[in-house]
Amino acid sequence: MNSRTLHKISYGMYVISSVKEGKFNGQIANTVFQITSEPATIAISINKQNLTHEYISASKIFAAAVLSENTPLKFIGKFGFKSGREIDKFEDTEFKTEKTGTPIVTENAVAYLEAEIINSLDAGTHTVFLGRVVGAEILNDEKPMTYAYYHQVKNGSAPKTAPTYIKREKEKIIEEKKSGASKKYVCMVCGYIYDPDKGDPDDNIPPGTPFDKLPEDWTCPVCGAGKDEFEKLNTVIIGISKDSPKSHVKFIDKHNLSILILSDEEHKVLETYGVWGKKKNYGREYFGIVRSTFIIDPDGKIRKEWKKVRVAGHVDAVLDTLKKLIEESP
Ligand SMILES: Cc1cc2nc3c(=O)[nH]c(=O)nc-3n(C[C@H](O)[C@H](O)[C@H](O)COP(=O)(O)O)c2cc1C
Repeated sequence: MNSRTLHKISYGMYVISSVKEGKFNGQIANTVFQITSEPATIAISINKQNLTHEYISASKIFAAAVLSENTPLKFIGKFGFKSGREIDKFEDTEFKTEKTGTPIVTENAVAYLEAEIINSLDAGTHTVFLGRVVGAEILNDEKPMTYAYYHQVKNGSAPKTAPTYIKREKEKIIEEKKSGASKKYVCMVCGYIYDPDKGDPDDNIPPGTPFDKLPEDWTCPVCGAGKDEFEKLNTVIIGISKDSPKSHVKFIDKHNLSILILSDEEHKVLETYGVWGKKKNYGREYFGIVRSTFIIDPDGKIRKEWKKVRVAGHVDAVLDTLKKLIEESP
């Protein structure tokens, strides 16, 4: 399967909002689809971890505000990268309530729909809610923002909770790294890329402003992370295994990797690092690699090692340790 095919699907940009026990919350979603016209029904796909999911499940109502092309990244960052569990997103957002009592975001919106849930489908990480439209208005003539516009023109990114996340954000970063575009900086929190050629128009940073000339209190226009979260980790990632160079090349091509992968067919380096050992599988004993990660500092000292690595959560653990070590280094 070519997962890039999924990138060819088009979407819009919306704020989905709902209410629970008088409290309001909302989130960005690109997944709003009209399902039928008579009666008008729409569907949304919402991550089960989101507070908005909890509110929709409880009240069985939601509103979808169609965002304008002029929506600032900060606004998308507030609704799309922060959870209502941390901040009150409606505190400083223009909204109104109509028939259902659910908050309808009017700020940066060109139109809105209100819907009552008539069915839902458990889709694993997400729930697909089907809603009957009970109210809808057009607010102005501005152009609705498409998902493609958000990515290509606004240079925006999406978090892991977005159904479309796939590895698009990661691929974007890999492409940037491959192109050797060292003047661009990546936000390690949300994947937003600061491109000096574009500047940050939302924050009045003109094109041509290098990253180090940005004000110290400048923050990521999408997720609000500080400038230090953009700092290049200045880290080289090297993968090493006993597989042949030929098989490595195949693997690199298949997964579009930009990291360096070394082949140690005679497992000399692997033995030096103590990761070549006896393994057992269904009672059968054999020699193989104990999957391990090492962080080596510029003096060649191993600063941290993980043995018998399980992949889930490991990347974040390594990244966190790396950031800490860099902070601690003189
Ligand atoms: C561009 C973009 C598209 C997104 N699309 C969806 C989506 O369709 N469904 C979803 O559940 N989350 C999506 N998200 C992620 C949520 O907006 C995000 O997880 C939010 O912080 C959840 O907030 P909450 O916990 O307050 O509900 C998207 C985020 C962005 C930035």
